[in-house]
Amino acid sequence: MPNTPRHATPRHYLMCRPTHFDVNYAINPWMDPTAPVDPELAVKQWEQLRELYQQYGHTVDLLDPVPGLPDMVFSANGATVVEDRVLIARFRHEERAPEAAHYQEWFTAQGYPEVHTARYINEAEGDYIVVGDTVLAGTGFRTDPEAHGELRRALRRPVVTLTLVDPRFYHLDTALAALSDTEVAYYPGAFSEGSLEALRILYPDAILVDEQDALSFGLNAVSDGHHVFLPDTAEGFARQLWEHGFEPVGVDLSELLKAGGSVKCCTLEIRHPALSRTALAV
Ligand code: ARG
Repeated sequence: MPNTPRHATPRHYLMCRPTHFDVNYAINPWMDPTAPVDPELAVKQWEQLRELYQQYGHTVDLLDPVPGLPDMVFSANGATVVEDRVLIARFRHEERAPEAAHYQEWFTAQGYPEVHTARYINEAEGDYIVVGDTVLAGTGFRTDPEAHGELRRALRRPVVTLTLVDPRFYHLDTALAALSDTEVAYYPGAFSEGSLEALRILYPDAILVDEQDALSFGLNAVSDGHHVFLPDTAEGFARQLWEHGFEPVGVDLSELLKAGGSVKCCTLEIRHPALSRTALAV
């Protein structure tokens, strides 16, 4: 839909500075513990993302980083939030399991009336993508399919299960991005045949992203309804976004990509009903 008028709405994000970032274990195909990592550069790149969000009028809250939890920078994996309801993650790998308690503590301290502890393995917004009133829920590598029912009950939203089949795209947010309340972009090669059928029915006008842009984590993007923050290497996807009336904002998070994460992974969205109704004057 070229020339669709776009409206940014102010967003509220929770981020975690990569103070203790490292790649000292491998739980996805992107991680190589023998390759050098520059934690100072990781912090610098992450700071640029945080500042960008603030420049564009968004609110960023910070969760304290914890020594010994090098992947904690990927705050999208910590919890899924809809209105005043929060479902805390339960990580698949023991290396990340202790992160969940820190999210639980943070959301409880903020006074959220419903902070649900998960019984089933779910890696939160890594696999759960809120598109309007629906939650698209990934499974295949990390989140258990049984967790999807728990998500529906905790957040009281319809949930659509999508199965991932390519280990390079181990979380849903590496293969699909929500652009607005009704629009998504995705890389078809990451999904099972049945899930592709569901995506075609739900989003016949979706932007289809090619393998090269998907491999540069272009779909690990964050949209405020108008601006789409994404890795600056995903040039083809950026052009597609312009054609659809969005404004791509490129970010360099090359250091964090060594752990298999980028823009969206570093961004947990807190959705307040009141905020999403106000337009941002930018
Ligand atoms: N190294 C982390 C892991 O494998 C990266 C997580 C990326 N986060 C995301 N939302 N996709 O768990």
